Amino acid sequence: MSERGQFTTRIGAIAATVGSAVGLGNIWRFPYETGQHGGAAFIAIYLLCVIIMGVPVIVAEFIVGRKTHKNVCGALRELAPGKKLHWFSGICIAASIMIISFYSVVCGWIVEYLTKAISGGLSSGSTEDYSTMFGAFVTNPYRSVLWTVLFLLANYLVLKRGLKKGIERVANVMMPMLFILLIVFCVNSLMQPGAGEGIKFLFSPDFSAITPRVAIGAMGQAFFSLSLGLSCLLTYSSYFKDSDSLVKNATTVAILDTLVAVLAGIMIFPVVFSYGMTPEQGPKLIFEVLPAIFQQMPGGYVLAVLFFFLLFMASITSTISMSEISIAYFSEELKMSRNQASMLNTGIAIVLGSLCALSFGVLSGFTIFGMTLFDLFDYVSSNLLLPFGGIFFSVFVGWILDRSVVEDELSNHGKLKVRVVKPLIFCLRYVAPVSIVIVFLYGLGIVDKVLQLM
Ligand code: PFF
Repeated sequence: MSERGQFTTRIGAIAATVGSAVGLGNIWRFPYETGQHGGAAFIAIYLLCVIIMGVPVIVAEFIVGRKTHKNVCGALRELAPGKKLHWFSGICIAASIMIISFYSVVCGWIVEYLTKAISGGLSSGSTEDYSTMFGAFVTNPYRSVLWTVLFLLANYLVLKRGLKKGIERVANVMMPMLFILLIVFCVNSLMQPGAGEGIKFLFSPDFSAITPRVAIGAMGQAFFSLSLGLSCLLTYSSYFKDSDSLVKNATTVAILDTLVAVLAGIMIFPVVFSYGMTPEQGPKLIFEVLPAIFQQMPGGYVLAVLFFFLLFMASITSTISMSEISIAYFSEELKMSRNQASMLNTGIAIVLGSLCALSFGVLSGFTIFGMTLFDLFDYVSSNLLLPFGGIFFSVFVGWILDRSVVEDELSNHGKLKVRVVKPLIFCLRYVAPVSIVIVFLYGLGIVDKVLQLM
């Protein structure tokens, strides 16, 4: 066990896990989902999902990972001998590769915009100009592939250095920087004239905007944002020390992840309102609207550079964690060296990521079930495989795993007092699987059909 390594410190373990959770899901998706779906009412439902499903499933993955100190396949084999449940690791690896493939395309866009910001290429133009620029960029077959590949190579350079010198060190540096930058941006945003309107939009609840569909969207968002269901947290927790408190680690990760999401909202909306833009821009917000706003602000050049750097840090610490799932599997089950495993992971991601990047241009006509490859990977992984993984882990720990193993892991073999065992098991047995089944059916479009009938 010692040769596979452990995070050196508890802070390092938390930084890496928060690094996984904090990503495009928080800074890019959460603000516009909140903006479009009732502001504070959406946030309230999101928080509820984090508490009743998010934290329990994080703890479930942590129990399996830390108990066995193994990759997902080895861990399931050890904890459920003879039950053949390790087939599920195939799903985890497939899902993680799908996510990294489409996610790294957006990361590539971020790097392109970071270099543009540095070279002054984002310093003049209207939103229309930035729209045209963005459209021309994503449809260009070479540039978006090039940046996707370069991003994945940077990801590889961290991964091949291993757990302590690569993953932990990068997280220890990037996570504090990310928080500091976020706070700087929030202060700047709150100082803009008319910032109050953005804050009102973000925080005043409009319960009439909450439909079952929105509530279900909040659950899906919580899953993606917390990196749940594909054994990413299991893999990281397999590197936790036996003295770490799993419940404390899980709540810290959930709180920090949610805090970043809310801060991202504060960073973005007051500025958007203050400059007379509309918040319903959705995904285009960061590539078309914000660059146009930055160049009107004093210090806009620096703000644009720092903003895309912040996004870069948030995204690379997430892609590292997605890759680690298959790297742990390749090196422990297929006996590859760390470098070979990282190369294999990167090679697959480069091929599939490039195809996803081309989905916006030359391959836009290539569709499966009416979706481009980018959309298909996003849809299948986020809407189907992650919820399925959530059900798997909650049922596995809630129903299949021996209760004494759960209690032992939570209390570090009796050394810690844990008062939440009962509510946690209750959530894992009933609340989480039932709510996730609803998300799952929604992902399949079944909820929509039922709602139409009502
Ligand atoms: N949690 C990341 C985000 O919010 O962007 C995305 C993610 C990372 C999903 C790692 C899944 C994963 F395993």
